Amino acid sequence: MPTDDITATRQTLLDRVESSDTPRDVLRAPELKKLYGAIGSLPAEERGAYGKSVNELKVALEAAIQAREAVLDSASIEPIDVTAPWDLNSTRPALLPTTQGTQHPLTKELDEVIDIFTRMGFAAIESRQIDDDFHMFEALNFPENHPARDGYDTFRTEEGFIPPAHTSTMQHRILKDGKETLEKGGHIAAISYGRVFRNEDVDATHEHTFYQVEGVFVSKDATLGDMLGTLRSFFEVYYGQSLKIKTQPGYFPFVEPGLEFAIEKPAALGGKPGEWLEMLGCGMIHPNVLRTAGIDPSEYRGFAWGGGIERLVMLKYGIEDLRHFEAAKLNFLRKFA
Ligand code: DAH
Repeated sequence: MPTDDITATRQTLLDRVESSDTPRDVLRAPELKKLYGAIGSLPAEERGAYGKSVNELKVALEAAIQAREAVLDSASIEPIDVTAPWDLNSTRPALLPTTQGTQHPLTKELDEVIDIFTRMGFAAIESRQIDDDFHMFEALNFPENHPARDGYDTFRTEEGFIPPAHTSTMQHRILKDGKETLEKGGHIAAISYGRVFRNEDVDATHEHTFYQVEGVFVSKDATLGDMLGTLRSFFEVYYGQSLKIKTQPGYFPFVEPGLEFAIEKPAALGGKPGEWLEMLGCGMIHPNVLRTAGIDPSEYRGFAWGGGIERLVMLKYGIEDLRHFEAAKLNFLRKFA
């Protein structure tokens, strides 16, 4: 009886799906072909019902195959205990994805920068990612409607807040917090690092979002020479070699004098003698900036600097396009693992 054949074959084939690593092969089993082949030899009045039963069997097989494939797929994925602590001290570290990921090159290099400055005695604080007009401009001696404000291509929220366009937004806070230390005879030494945002068209050397590091030092007798020595030491440690440096005048409302600081591109990094690279802006903190933070400029003097992290890193590793950093390309990111 052909219907009995179907029942027997059905069980055989479903069992086979359950035990197979390649369950889809069952759809090509000779037993199934035989059932289909029998249709033509049946009397016309039996064909309809028989054909329908064979099709039902095929639908049942298809469902069983999909269920079996799902079981096989999930068995090949390493189980993750989502409640496990996110650290390497786990008793089951193999279950943690930390063994597979790597730190992003920018945060890795930023850690290196922070490390160098903290070893020089600077405190390190992260900058804010949302700020206001006072910290972005006013406290830094940009009066209202000052044309230098335009140079910062600043975004604003509808409420008037500002995603900061430079880490200098942290200067006023650092100065105010350090005032007491100064009055006790100490000095202020801090860096501030973090993301900054500008309304820029993106190309190989411009991003709307990038990282900066700002430095502030204030004492009774800070000099421009101290600043140049501090910056030179930083760059020499970061690039692991001695460097030639030079400065030229630069205008920033919050420093007087203001300078642009350049290093000669090291031969080891593909530079030719006389090839200068501008790395950051710096200068002696403007008396108005000290005064706004409650520090008497006739008693204390300070220097400040600020510059981008990407530029440092690009020079160190010969990266030619800034956009690589945010492109999420694994072959780029793995070079820094
Ligand atoms: N904030 C400036 C910028 O983003 C960089 C800068 C220049 C920072 C001079 C400073 C400084 O602290 O003294 O273009």
